[in-house]
Amino acid sequence: MFNVYMFENDTLDKIALDIKNCKLCLLCSTRKNTVPGEGGFLKKLMIIGEAPGYHEDQSGKPFIGPAGKILRNALSKNDISIQDVFITNIIKCRPPNNRPPQINEKNTCIQYLERQILLLQPKMICLLGNVISSYILGIKSITKERGRILHKNNLKYFVTYHPAATIYNRNLLNIFEQDIKKLSEYISFNYSDLQKSY
Ligand code: URA
Repeated sequence: MFNVYMFENDTLDKIALDIKNCKLCLLCSTRKNTVPGEGGFLKKLMIIGEAPGYHEDQSGKPFIGPAGKILRNALSKNDISIQDVFITNIIKCRPPNNRPPQINEKNTCIQYLERQILLLQPKMICLLGNVISSYILGIKSITKERGRILHKNNLKYFVTYHPAATIYNRNLLNIFEQDIKKLSEYISFNYSDLQKSY
């Protein structure tokens, strides 16, 4: 992680444009839209998932399908709106048939996530599910590591289940919702130093 340096005068729009023009892996030939990420970032929380699915590919927005509903619902139950957080994925284009991202796709696409992190300087990064948690933190078991703050390279991480994993498992849904509640408590920062535009 962090093989890129801060681009001079980088902005979320510039990163989104670079992603839109990206042809570094084969996913560019099957995508309908790139999905760079979305949010207002008032609470300086970044939420990172795996890869866009069908609905995200159609719209260019992250987490708007069934898994997204669970995530957005859990956030709004804890008074976190999309204006408070930046939501994105490790992979910015949909893999065909929602197959898991391949290692070369992750290694190629990570530069955009790194730029987003360097630019936004999140106070907390929430990783959703195994794919991103093992790639960024080397985590082997979400069950063991979820629900607490982890530190790496001067960044704070919080790991929980991917909302898609909770769709057919009520127990996981309860745990996921409890984790998001805990996360919302961790990020109850003083709003005054959070008003910065990018
Ligand atoms: N699953 C993800 O990991 N990301 C999305 O944007 C949608 C579903």
